Amino acid sequence: MADRDEAEWDYSSAVPAGEQRQTVDLKTGVPHSARVYDHILGGKDNFPADRAAAAEITKSWPNLPTSMRANRNFMARVARVLAADHGIRQFLDIGTGLPTAPNLHEVAQEVAPESRILYVDNDPIVLLHARALLTSSPEGRTMYLDADFHDPEKILASEQLRETLDLGQPLAVSLIAIVHFIADDAVVKDLVQRIMSPLPSGSILALSTCTADSAPEEVRVGVAAYNANGIPLVARDLARVERLFDGLELIDPGVVLVNHWHADERAAVDDAHVHMYGGIARKR
Ligand SMILES: C[S@@+](CC[C@H](N)C(=O)[O-])C[C@H]1O[C@@H](n2cnc3c(N)ncnc32)[C@H](O)[C@@H]1O
Repeated sequence: MADRDEAEWDYSSAVPAGEQRQTVDLKTGVPHSARVYDHILGGKDNFPADRAAAAEITKSWPNLPTSMRANRNFMARVARVLAADHGIRQFLDIGTGLPTAPNLHEVAQEVAPESRILYVDNDPIVLLHARALLTSSPEGRTMYLDADFHDPEKILASEQLRETLDLGQPLAVSLIAIVHFIADDAVVKDLVQRIMSPLPSGSILALSTCTADSAPEEVRVGVAAYNANGIPLVARDLARVERLFDGLELIDPGVVLVNHWHADERAAVDDAHVHMYGGIARKR
């Protein structure tokens, strides 16, 4: 399918509520991380500014598409392992991104149809596509919340969360490819602590984030290209990523390049082409 440009954009059928239609500001003239990511993954929900930024970024960072796909496959394996091996039936996915098959709820509900998922993102274009994220199995539930990770208390107090998740039972918080947009480790740790603190013991944090460890020069140049396009991005080394899980118990295999986490045949890719670390940890 052809990419969209602004003139042909029609979101009338995608907006979940009339009220939200009034307030959506797509800011299509500037590149946005979710739409750049969508374009690089082969999606169509992006605009000329996003495509121009993506072209510039991938010129400097040729293995970025491979790394992004490895990250997306990691997300799916995490959802499957949490549902199948850890008995997790509730997911709070912050920084959801545009719908890309399979979405988290599709993986979790394939294992356990009663799984409930709250998707959270702060990008208006993700909001426009929320309906595609709300295709729950009849036994389970999916919901969408338009909110920012910088305000965890708002997420935790939201009506959408109360309608979807039971904070009396363990749940998994997923922060997949989002915290590399927050440069300050202390800020990320504070936000993680605030989102996890009211959750019961046995709850899980699943996180993936950008690293330059596997390809220092390529990622250095690529991160600079992101920053030059107005999208802040930071690459962290292994020790910094491990410290984001402080206070939680890392579960085997710990923090690894995402292609090594419970690898299956789809995860087979050269380490130098994967620029994301990922891991999961349990709240004691
Ligand atoms: C690179 S995409 C990752 C999407 C998906 N988690 C995945 O890994 O395929 C990052 C997403 O995080 C969202 N995001 C970035 N900063 C955010 C914040 N502070 N609060 C909520 N969402 C945020 C962006 O809008 C985007 O949709």
